Amino acid sequence: MKEDFFQLAQKEALTFDDILILPGYSEILPAQISTQISLTDNLVLNTPIISAAMDTVTEHKMAQVMAQYGGFGVIHKNMSVKSQCYEVQKVKKYESGMILDPITLSPETPVYKALELMKKHSISGVPITKNNQLEGILTNRDLRFETKMDQPVSSIMTPKEKLVTAKEGINLEQAKEVLHKHRIEKLPVMDEKGFLKGLITIKDIEKAMAFPHATKDPHGRLFVGAAVGTGSEEKHRAESLIRAEVDLLCVDTAHGLSKNVIEMAAFLKTRYSGIVLMVGNVATEKGAVALADAGADIIKVGMGPGSICTTRVVSGVGVPQVNAILNCAKALKKKGKTLVADGGLKHSGDLTKAIALGAQAAMVGNILAGSDESPGEIVLYRGRAYKAYRGMGSLGAMKKGSKDRYRQENVFVSDKIVPEGVEGRVPYRGSASHILYQMAGGLKAGMGYIGAKNINDFQKKSNFIKVSSKSFSESHIHDVSITKEAPNYRLE
Ligand code: XMP
Repeated sequence: MKEDFFQLAQKEALTFDDILILPGYSEILPAQISTQISLTDNLVLNTPIISAAMDTVTEHKMAQVMAQYGGFGVIHKNMSVKSQCYEVQKVKKYESGMILDPITLSPETPVYKALELMKKHSISGVPITKNNQLEGILTNRDLRFETKMDQPVSSIMTPKEKLVTAKEGINLEQAKEVLHKHRIEKLPVMDEKGFLKGLITIKDIEKAMAFPHATKDPHGRLFVGAAVGTGSEEKHRAESLIRAEVDLLCVDTAHGLSKNVIEMAAFLKTRYSGIVLMVGNVATEKGAVALADAGADIIKVGMGPGSICTTRVVSGVGVPQVNAILNCAKALKKKGKTLVADGGLKHSGDLTKAIALGAQAAMVGNILAGSDESPGEIVLYRGRAYKAYRGMGSLGAMKKGSKDRYRQENVFVSDKIVPEGVEGRVPYRGSASHILYQMAGGLKAGMGYIGAKNINDFQKKSNFIKVSSKSFSESHIHDVSITKEAPNYRLE
């Protein structure tokens, strides 16, 4: 990036709509472009988008689709510790090379109980074990037409003598061959002493192969993050999430440059050195450096740009997002830490701008809130379909539990809460996978206009111009009414 734009931005406070990236010489097509970035040494995203830790955006369904398409989701914390851990576990169990701790049953379990359990977890087969030694497997096939519901599963399961099993260490390709050869759907994996170590299913193999760009942990399971706050109870939340095998903890606050956030970050990094730690939010160099020094691997940047945020108007404090990213990006690069631009993205071009300015990825709420995978139902209003979307600083969300994000955890009377967000709705937008495709496509198009093959190259080559309000209107459609909506452009 050219220094003169940096100087200009120091004098004026700018946001995404105030700037454009200048085109550059190009020889490449969008299809030849890689949007892969590393957030840490071990965390590589093929799609640099993260879904926000908000109660109308990210629970397990959103986190699953985000990781399948090369980003990841951060499960919000407006729920009990137990429920949040359960959400994490649902992601970890969803698509795995091998299910590491499959649900098992003992041979004496009555058939009706097995049926209940299989229905509850939507599974079609259960290994039957005694002291973790494999005794057999019970599948839907064994249960079909069964009427004696009180008999033990051992009388109808396929016993171990007839089972095809695999040794620990088998890879997915080898497992696929075994499953194919024996025309079976489930392959229990055992160690040398006959202890059950995992279960490989054809469904999981198919899912793994359908998403070649997925973000995964070292065991081949989908990557997932979860939000925590600050304070001693939140240490317990973090501990439980780690036990639930979360991959990333996000200390999610409205003001990262605070004593308790810095202390929480330092505590988590020392206590759980293996975990990826994302902390925010900050909007100044000082804030970014404080979090980096406290041990954060990834620093989340954004103070008030979010579509549902009222922090800037309520408190009078904040930094327009272009400046916030620029303020933090240089300092974090020197520290070897990465930056996630959080909030304020309206179109895919804003993702492109955030990355060009120095972010490694962007966090989005609004853009994904209208998708099938966000929590909540589709609601009809005046004949059009919507989904609810609310700020974590809105009255409703704060009453549900997010007061600590806004340092109001000690306010117990709801009319004494000072909200910093609103509750609303966004148009229903179908599957999140389509949204992610269009967002990544927009980013690739932008990189193509600069002639950049990868993100590093893109950040080096990008330069910007400030635009007037008239040119902003020129950028959007004008002198026409939309008769057929495009999948990546909407004017509300
Ligand atoms: P978008 O623009 O995608 O932004 O809707 C999502 C981000 O906004 C932040 N957030 C809030 N900020 N008051 C705020 O000031 C709120 O009520 C609020 N809720 C969410 C958060 O960083 C999120 O990722």
